Amino acid sequence: MSLDRADLTAATQPLNRARSMPAGFYTDPAIFKAERERVFLKHWFFLTRAEALPEPGDYRAFDSPGGPIVLIRGNDGRLRCFANYCRHRGSILLEGKGNVGGKITCPYHAWSYLNDGRLYGCPDMKDAEGFDKVENGLVALDLDEWEGFVFARFTKDGPSLREHLGDFPERMASHKLGQMRCTWSMTLDVACNWKLILENAVETYHTGIVHRDTVGAQQSRSPATRGDWIAIQVISGRSIATLGSDQPPFPPIEGLDEEAKLGTYFTVVFPTVQFAVAQDCLWWLNTRPVSENRTVLEVGGCFPEDRLSLPDFKARALPYYDRWERVAKEDVGILEKQQRALGSALYRPGPLSWRDDMVQAMGVWVLDRLGL
Ligand code: FES
Ligand SMILES: [Fe+2]
Repeated sequence: MSLDRADLTAATQPLNRARSMPAGFYTDPAIFKAERERVFLKHWFFLTRAEALPEPGDYRAFDSPGGPIVLIRGNDGRLRCFANYCRHRGSILLEGKGNVGGKITCPYHAWSYLNDGRLYGCPDMKDAEGFDKVENGLVALDLDEWEGFVFARFTKDGPSLREHLGDFPERMASHKLGQMRCTWSMTLDVACNWKLILENAVETYHTGIVHRDTVGAQQSRSPATRGDWIAIQVISGRSIATLGSDQPPFPPIEGLDEEAKLGTYFTVVFPTVQFAVAQDCLWWLNTRPVSENRTVLEVGGCFPEDRLSLPDFKARALPYYDRWERVAKEDVGILEKQQRALGSALYRPGPLSWRDDMVQAMGVWVLDRLGL
């Protein structure tokens, strides 16, 4: 890998002397390849909420840094995640989302699999020597859920999801995230490195400028965290999940602890997702890295389950959707400019502000995983 040792030393200095990461951290295909091996294929990554696939046979296909995968609910009610390819000669099995019923049939030569991954039908295979149906089921990823948040992992090794999350569950306990229900999402194809999206999502230095017409200037603090996550908390007595100064359409979550009442937590659960946890709702920025300069960004929004049964739920939720979309697009606009700038032959890492503390923390976490 081609990152300059002196640049990395400068990037990891105490914040008042630190510089930003070298351009190659965001532009070098070799760094992206190393991230694939040591970050994306080694750590838990968020997929979706469990309630998005309520019925047996419900599935959703994803493109991930480890290739195509599919999340599917079996007849036994369990969610499983598989590599999304056929064990015969490798066609993709499922696209998009939907319900396959009890069986997945390969579109190439019609091998079929039960919705729990077992191989079911394989025409004209009776002559194949040593062929064993049991050994030719779909290849499973590791899967775990916390409070309805579904995470997968390409390896069986390493800390459990609960260990990975550290004190995130304690910190968010009073938000009762298990009762959240996802009601909205939007996907953007972004021409920038995945880390730029998440770094930007944990600093408020830019908000008064990039978001001058929407959320405006914000102040934040950086609570200490334990485990593979970081956070800032934007201090605001009212939820900032809608624009303007009127009270938001939904009341705060009942029973929030004193810290939670102070404002919205903008977290990064390493490596690839932000959960923004507000007094009245939650939204996420889920990044799916495609290459060193391309990322699929899914923004998803959730409310406490009992809000969904309010007769005017849809109308009340609209200002939230509007804010999430507008602010995400403002961020994407500036991030794509940043990615282009990082391609300059004359790029030199610039000095960091005290307000870039979690930007530095994000980069350092990745550097550590890369062994750099
Ligand atoms: S590739 Fe799936 S049946 Fe041949
Ligand atoms: Fe922003």
